[in-house]
Amino acid sequence: MSLTRIHNLSISLDGFATGEPQSREAPFGHAGERLHEWMFATRFWAGAGGAVGADHAFAARHEAGIGAEIMGANKFGPPGWQDDPDWKGWWGPNPPFHTPTFVLTHRPRPPLEMAGGTTFHFLDAAPAEALQAARKAADGLDVRIGGGATVVREFIAAGLVDHIHLVQVPIVLGRGVRVWDGLEALERDYAIEAVSTPSGVTHLTFMRKGDGAAEDRQAGE
Ligand SMILES: NC(=O)c1ccc[n+]([C@@H]2O[C@H](COP(=O)([O-])OP(=O)(O)OC[C@H]3O[C@@H](n4cnc5c(N)ncnc54)[C@H](OP(=O)(O)O)[C@@H]3O)[C@@H](O)[C@H]2O)c1
Repeated sequence: MSLTRIHNLSISLDGFATGEPQSREAPFGHAGERLHEWMFATRFWAGAGGAVGADHAFAARHEAGIGAEIMGANKFGPPGWQDDPDWKGWWGPNPPFHTPTFVLTHRPRPPLEMAGGTTFHFLDAAPAEALQAARKAADGLDVRIGGGATVVREFIAAGLVDHIHLVQVPIVLGRGVRVWDGLEALERDYAIEAVSTPSGVTHLTFMRKGDGAAEDRQAGE
C-alpha cells in the first residue's frame, strides 16, 4: 500500500514553516536558517561527522520507501522563477530527491531531467490529481509531500495525508506562511505522538487512524 507522507517539516511555535519575504537571497525570509538548525547537526544532513542521536533518527525517515515527491512552486524557487527559463531549482545539477518530483504551479513548463534520478514534472492540478500522477510514478512506493506550508495545508485539508512528521522549533516568527490556517481538529483523524530531544525541538508524529491509505479510503477502496 502506497502511503502519502510528510517529513521534517519544521515549524515555529506559532506554526510558521517559513518567514517572509521569500527571495533568492533569503529563501526563508526573516526566518533565515533558524527553522532547520536542529537538522544541520545530524548525520542525515552533515554526513559522516554528524550526530546520530534522536534528531538524526527522525530526520533520516525522510528517505526510506519514497518513490516520488510533490512540492509547491515556492519551494522550487524564489518568487518569479517562472519568468526565468534557466531556473532549475535551488539544489544544483544533482538535486537530493532522486525520484520523480512534481512541482505544483499555475505556470507549468516541460519536464526537467536532472542528474541522480530526479526529474522535475510541473503540474497545474488539484491535490488528488497530483497525487494520482505521483503515485503512478512512485511505482508502489510512498509519495512525500515536500512542502512548503501552502501545499502541505492543501493536502492535509483534502484528507490525502497518512503520516505527518512536524518538528516544532522553539522560536516565534510572528509572520510568514502558517501550516495550520484553515485546518481544524486534526487530532480527531490522527493518533499523535510528541518527542522532545536534547536539541530543544519537539518531533510531532501524526498517524492517520484506521486502516488503509488516505487516497484509497477516499476512493472507497
Ligand atoms: N519549514 C520547512 O520544513 C520547509 C519545507 C519546505 C519548504 N519550506 C519553505 O516554505 C516556503 C514555501 O512555502 P509556501 O507556503 O510559500 O509555498 P509552497 O507550498 O511551496 O507553494 C505554493 C505555491 O505553489 C503553487 N500551487 C500550490 N498548489 C497548487 C495547485 N494545486 N495547482 C497549481 N499550483 C499550485 C502556487 O504557486 P503559483 O501560483 O505561483 O504557481 C502556490 O502559490 C519556502 O520558503 C520554502 O523554503 C519550508
